[in-house]
Amino acid sequence: MNYKKKKKATQHALNSVTSRLALTAPCEVSLWDSDEPVPKAELLKSVQGAHGLLCLLTDKIDAEVLDAAGPNLKVISTLSVGFDHLALDEIKKRGIRLGYTPDVLTDATAELTVALLLATARRLPEGVEEVKNGGWSAWKPLWLCGYGLSGSTVGVIGLGRIGMAIAQRLMPFGVKRLLYSGRTAKPHAAEVNGEFVPIDTLVSESDFIVVSCSLTPETQGLCNKAMFSKMKNTAVFINSSRGAVVNQEDLYEALSSGQIAAAGLDVTTPEPLPTNHPLLKLKNCVVLPHIGSATYSTRGVMSVLAAQNLLGGLQGTDMPSELSL
Ligand code: NDP
Ligand code: DGY
Repeated sequence: MNYKKKKKATQHALNSVTSRLALTAPCEVSLWDSDEPVPKAELLKSVQGAHGLLCLLTDKIDAEVLDAAGPNLKVISTLSVGFDHLALDEIKKRGIRLGYTPDVLTDATAELTVALLLATARRLPEGVEEVKNGGWSAWKPLWLCGYGLSGSTVGVIGLGRIGMAIAQRLMPFGVKRLLYSGRTAKPHAAEVNGEFVPIDTLVSESDFIVVSCSLTPETQGLCNKAMFSKMKNTAVFINSSRGAVVNQEDLYEALSSGQIAAAGLDVTTPEPLPTNHPLLKLKNCVVLPHIGSATYSTRGVMSVLAAQNLLGGLQGTDMPSELSL
């Protein structure tokens, strides 16, 4: 399948959200027909009187939007597993049901996180750049050396669905110890010989630190100066959860001072990260544009699931993935 056709197929999958909704009459669909986020003013206008709302993680669904929608609103379905863009307390208060897309994006996101970890640790973007700009003069013993996974200790902050899938993918690289932290120990961690440790132990003993927790009031700014100062100077830090889990000023300081070796970020604050942001000037920081779940098939399956969630909520039946509030 060539690129154009694939793009078409994905578009088809996304369109199937609308067609499914349209077919399951009586249901009038108002669609923001653009890949760009819907402006807040437009959302506030078009949500009025709606019974259901299908949104993206770029849509902040707060009390203002819910008030604009009014009492008809029965269900919100987000095309994401993360729900930090949704005011859960306000949604619950109004008795609105909530659908999201767990599991179906776990493999794609874990795969991207591993790719980002390898690219960061083995300095792939720097190497590619050197080939293009003539910096590659000869094979040199220490040129572009990085850090390997074999014999290493990996720490996963948040061994949930995606954290576990990342761990499963990393173990075959010869990882020696897999540490994890979170609120509770996970029985499934046994599969990767995971050791449940306090977060301070995790950050001080790990060669690779991978953040895959959800963004909550407790995890906001969790990765800060105090945490970076406990890491090894050779540590590689990876975040594919949400940008706000990291204090970016503190990360910049840690990277530019040599407190830690490198960082790979699929998520930032804000998104997009301004092109003049200090982190983008650092060679030891690899930044991706939030593409964890971005495979054609994953986005297609997410779209169908989001449509099914919406329909279930509209019809008052089961939603395949309902978040209990
Ligand atoms: P899960 O709910 O399965 O996992 C979330 C994990 O976060 C749990 O293991 C939980 O641990 C942990 N956690 C919560 N609070 C804390 C805390 N205070 N300290 C440490 N860990 C904590 O969700 P998923 O794995 O499916 O998704 C995780 C997140 O990944 C999403 O919320 C989203 O933000 C992000 N994501 C990013 C993508 C991307 O494109 N980059 C794609 C998809 C998701 P415990 O149970 O012990 O509390
Ligand atoms: C999510 O689902 O939360 C991701 O960030 C995008 O897939």
